[in-house]
Amino acid sequence: MVPNQYQAIELQRFADSFKAGTEIVTKPLPSPGDNDVVVRNLYCGINGIFDTQITKNAVDYVKVSLPTLTGVEALGVVEAVGDKVSGLAVGDHVVTTRFPSGYRQWNIGDASNFIKVKDGNPHWLVLASTGVSAYVALTQVGQIKAGETVAISAAAGGLGHLLIQIAKSFGCHVIAICGGDKKGELARQLGADDVINYREVSVRDYLCTHYKDKLDIAFDTVSGPIHDAFLDNLAVHGRLIVAGAAEDLDGKPELVTRPRIAHKLYYKGASVRSFMNGLLTEYWPNARDVLFSMYEKGELNVVMDDPQFEGLEGVYQGVERLISGQSMGKVMVKLDQQ
Ligand SMILES: NC(=O)c1ccc[n+]([C@@H]2O[C@H](COP(=O)([O-])OP(=O)(O)OC[C@H]3O[C@@H](n4cnc5c(N)ncnc54)[C@H](OP(=O)(O)O)[C@@H]3O)[C@@H](O)[C@H]2O)c1
Repeated sequence: MVPNQYQAIELQRFADSFKAGTEIVTKPLPSPGDNDVVVRNLYCGINGIFDTQITKNAVDYVKVSLPTLTGVEALGVVEAVGDKVSGLAVGDHVVTTRFPSGYRQWNIGDASNFIKVKDGNPHWLVLASTGVSAYVALTQVGQIKAGETVAISAAAGGLGHLLIQIAKSFGCHVIAICGGDKKGELARQLGADDVINYREVSVRDYLCTHYKDKLDIAFDTVSGPIHDAFLDNLAVHGRLIVAGAAEDLDGKPELVTRPRIAHKLYYKGASVRSFMNGLLTEYWPNARDVLFSMYEKGELNVVMDDPQFEGLEGVYQGVERLISGQSMGKVMVKLDQQ
């Protein structure tokens, strides 16, 4: 039965941490309008770094007006539909992948915001959100080509573990940069050809020794010395993709005074490109189709972090787990505890 209210995590004030800026609140759940669907969320994906940045009001392309609900992606089951909705019916499983859809027990909105998936398997959610990011970044921004050499930071993470496999599906040579041996093992299992555990080995020294000027794509979500080592080892026409800066999460990025990077790029015809998935929505449907098909054919593995958390309180645990740097694969929360 559809209740007339539900709980969600609301951002109420800008703050330095997701926990400090948010509260669990009760919201009314109205009856659906003609074009609306009402969805009981089963799982949500955690994006602890994005959540922290949103809480600091530091995501340039999202205009946050307080209060606002939080979270990006969720998978749920349709429990009611408006009179004019076609293509979705009660009992269908759907995913949503746009802020603020994730950290709420129930969702209501225009049917066009919900994408039908086969069943309640949370892997569809990982593919439709983080998977789409990985695919769009490599194909549209990275313009990946068969046989290229691709280095990936945070390679055992939610985004990274999918980047490895997608790059391998293009026949690329993949170098995984990870913090720790367990993460390195996972990266190798997923197909990485080489692993650099930056806690034990200098990424700069390793790349300069084994991949001097050989990186066709360097995919970075960490920044700091990894970004610098990538930039120094780009191949002719190499692309350094900036898709995050986890190291700068404390809001105090290292001040860098060096010659302008133009000198490192110019003679190589190389480039630094930013990837921002929310600005590339036109590529999402195709990316979903490709990834769903690869998954169904057994060509793509989804790894979910262990432990899994439950309920809205579990979202806080998930965010902490992700920003602790200990998680491997995608951090998910089971929202529906029935
Ligand atoms: N631009 C976009 O549109 C877009 C889309 C999706 C995700 N992202 C970004 O991609 C990155 C990965 O996202 P994810 O959700 O899949 O996370 P994740 O990779 O599962 O987790 C973050 C990983 O980053 C590494 N890390 C390095 N320094 C860190 C620090 N100071 N604090 C926390 N982690 C640190 C850790 O791996 P190691 O120990 O292996 O270094 C950690 O496990 C994030 O920066 C996210 O914001 C960007």
